[in-house]
Parts: sequence; C-alpha cells; structure tokens
Amino acid sequence: MLRIKELFSGYGDIDVLKGLNIEFTKGIVYAVLGPNGSGKSTLLKTIDGIIKPKKGTICINGEYIKKHSAKEIAKKIAYLPQHSNSVPYSTVFDTILLGRKPHISFEPTKRDLEIIEKIIHDLSLSKFAFRKINELSGGETQKVLIARALAQQPEVLLLDEPVNHLDPKNQIEILNILQRVTKSLNLATIIVLHDLNLGIQFADYFVFMKNGEIYRAGDSSIIEPSIVKNVYDIDVKIVEINGKKFLTFPVTSDEGF
Ligand SMILES: Nc1ncnc2c1ncn2[C@@H]1O[C@H](COP(=O)(O)OP(=O)(O)O)[C@@H](O)[C@H]1O
Ligand SMILES: [Mg+2]
Repeated sequence: MLRIKELFSGYGDIDVLKGLNIEFTKGIVYAVLGPNGSGKSTLLKTIDGIIKPKKGTICINGEYIKKHSAKEIAKKIAYLPQHSNSVPYSTVFDTILLGRKPHISFEPTKRDLEIIEKIIHDLSLSKFAFRKINELSGGETQKVLIARALAQQPEVLLLDEPVNHLDPKNQIEILNILQRVTKSLNLATIIVLHDLNLGIQFADYFVFMKNGEIYRAGDSSIIEPSIVKNVYDIDVKIVEINGKKFLTFPVTSDEGF
C-alpha cells in the first residue's frame, strides 16, 4: 500500500537516499535497521513529506503523496520523530487531541472526543489523562506521543527510535502496543530500531540500510551473522530459543584497560 520507487532524497546537493525501492504492506511491523548516518531518519522524513524527494516516487494506495497537502498526508501517515516535541504544559488529553487536528475543521466533534477516549483507554493512559506532559516519565510520555499519532487514524505509522532512553520494561510495553495496534488497526508500522534482538522479538520484516541504500530486506530468515557483519561491522553469533533468533555479541577484553 506504500510503494517507494527509485527514491533519491537528501539535503542541499547531497543525496542521502540513493535509489530506494521498497513496498510496505498493512498489518506488518517493519524494523528499519542500520548504522548511524545510513539514512533511516531521512527515509522516514521523506515518506512523511517533510523532505521532498529529489527523484523517484512515493505512492500510498496507488496515489502519489506529492499531490497531497500536509493535512491530507497527516490523515494517512503519522510520524513520531527521533526527537519529538510536545507542548510541555498541556495535558495528556489535549496533547492526544492535537492528533485529531488534520480531521477537525472547526472544533472537535463528539466523535473526535470518543476516538481520543478510546485511545486513552486502550493505551491504559486513563489515570494520566489530565496530568501535564512535563509531569510524566519518559515511558509515559512516549505512550502519549504514540496515542497522539494514533489519534490521526493513519494507515502508516512511522516511528524513529521510539524506545531509545527507555528502560527494558517500557521498551517492551511500547513495542507490544505497536505490535498490537498494527494488527488491530491494520497499519503499516515502520520502526527505526537499534536493538536487533528487540527487532527480532517484535517486527515481522527487517529492512537493513547501509550508505543510503537498502542493503537487504526480508523476514527473520535474512538475519544471519554475515548481514550483521556487513551492515554494522560486528561479529555476532546467533542462537535460537523457542524458534526465535537471538544475537550474542562478542566481548573483547583489551589488555591495558
Ligand atoms: N538536516 C540535515 N542537513 C544536512 N545533512 C543531514 C541532515 N540530517 C541528516 N543529514 C545527514 O544525512 C545522513 C543520514 O542521516 P540520517 O538519515 O539522520 O541517518 P540515520 O537516521 O540512519 O542515523 C548523515 O550523513 C547526516 O549527517
Ligand atoms: Mg536517525
């Protein structure tokens, strides 16, 4: 449903993304992986229309997104940036309501409020609903920002490193939520992640990026020591537990430290 063809994108004269071809389907969680600077954030920003492609096309349900206004795109695509901003002194409820903005022409309707209430309930945010954003923990804030993205009722959810800086319990809770809404709302969910093991636990499909290109994409069968070596330049071993792969990383003991 989201089809990217021969996409070139970047900043000024510099091409960061160099001829990407990929298609994203609904109901699937995609993990976008790759070293710092490989173009992951640039890919998400280009899909969301924040950066205009230099060449190539992005289509959603067969329509070119460049023909849509930012407001129209926001009805189809929700984007949670790597460094997201929220209004610090507004309440959780008002923050999530902001996600309805693309759908609201004058003022929120009863239906808008019902949508927000359902999301607050589904994400177990009821007890924080009238708390101010700056009074929440990192994990709670991230859940609110995901709730705001869901309030847009998008078809595509783009999340740039949504679990960075969170403790393991919150990482798992957030990824569980994302996995659940992907299936229940039939979204194409594209998550930039650094933790390969978390990716293997929660994603259905893996997109490895390197130097602005898609190095390899596929299901978990593509995750092999050789791909990790070629993309990240680290040696890993892979073990299987209950049919799931786990990567173990080498521990080097340097003399002198
Ligand atoms: N606003 C910008 N202006 C110029 N260059 C940028 C900008 N943002 C990112 N870049 C460059 O684009 C490349 C890819 O960056 P990015 O997409 O953020 O990588 P990743 O998210 O994979 O770490 C990097 O070389 C980075 O320095
Ligand atoms: Mg990035």
